[in-house]
Amino acid sequence: MYSIKLDTGKILHIAENYGWYIDGNLAGDEDNSIYSSKLVRELDWYSYLRNYNIYVSANCNGKCLYCYQDAQEKRTIENLSFDDIKNYINYIESINDARTLPKSIELFGGEPLLRKDIHKILDYILDRGYSVKIATNGTLPIIQSKAMLKYIKNSNIHFRISLDGHTQELHEKYRTKNTFYKIIDNIKYLVGNGAEISLKTIVTNHNFKYLKDILHYFKYDLGVKLWNYNALYVLDSTIKNNIESTITHYTLVEELTKDEYKEYWDMFIQTPLAQMLKSIYVKK
Ligand SMILES: C[S@@+](CC[C@H](N)C(=O)[O-])C[C@H]1O[C@@H](n2cnc3c(N)ncnc32)[C@H](O)[C@@H]1O
Repeated sequence: MYSIKLDTGKILHIAENYGWYIDGNLAGDEDNSIYSSKLVRELDWYSYLRNYNIYVSANCNGKCLYCYQDAQEKRTIENLSFDDIKNYINYIESINDARTLPKSIELFGGEPLLRKDIHKILDYILDRGYSVKIATNGTLPIIQSKAMLKYIKNSNIHFRISLDGHTQELHEKYRTKNTFYKIIDNIKYLVGNGAEISLKTIVTNHNFKYLKDILHYFKYDLGVKLWNYNALYVLDSTIKNNIESTITHYTLVEELTKDEYKEYWDMFIQTPLAQMLKSIYVKK
């Protein structure tokens, strides 16, 4: 048992292979505290440490008003070279053993599909036995290129596409103009070719009231089986662009657990809500 005093004066107790909880008791007596605690969160070190994201592209073709990344026109982060990526993966392997090695690596940015050597990067990661998640805006023609087809058909590659609504107006409110139909076309192509795909929606006041329609469209019109969401992070970009939202993770948990969303719950397994449900362990 590790006990750490927090700034608030309370104590965080971490019981190895069991979970964590916070109370005011420095002793953190396992028998009396952790097992009688009403709410203990499971802490799976191995799953936390097994998530690796590689920022493969500092460039982006998007102009999302809420984007928390460097201003699109003048990004200050440099692109990683192919060798940098290779060295990083070798480094991950050198500091882990079989138990802690990542199972999956996420390619992130910027826009990962802008990389000219994306096929080489995917080959390298797949050859080393990992699955790959590509976080993409889903707008680029490369998705329907001949060279991409073998990756689309590979079940170890997952495409995570950002889509904020079921109409052009909703999606493009804060994201890039004139992209909605390109994305829909690419999603239909991906689904039609059996790709592993999920859609991710940033939920703000503008699309919150349409959540059920959005999920209906994703599931039944597009045939997508997995959905993820995030609430808006309020940062420089959102303040500068006067984007405000009162929707928080709590609002979303309250909304999405209503019975009327039942038919979509099977799409939620990658959401923060599902992560939270998985990690809460309630005595008795
Ligand atoms: C920065 S993008 C990079 C990957 C890819 N270019 C894309 O558009 O999905 C990753 C995700 O961050 C989300 N995002 C950007 N700014 C955000 C903000 N202020 N709050 C919450 N999510 C944000 C985007 O909607 C997107 O789903």
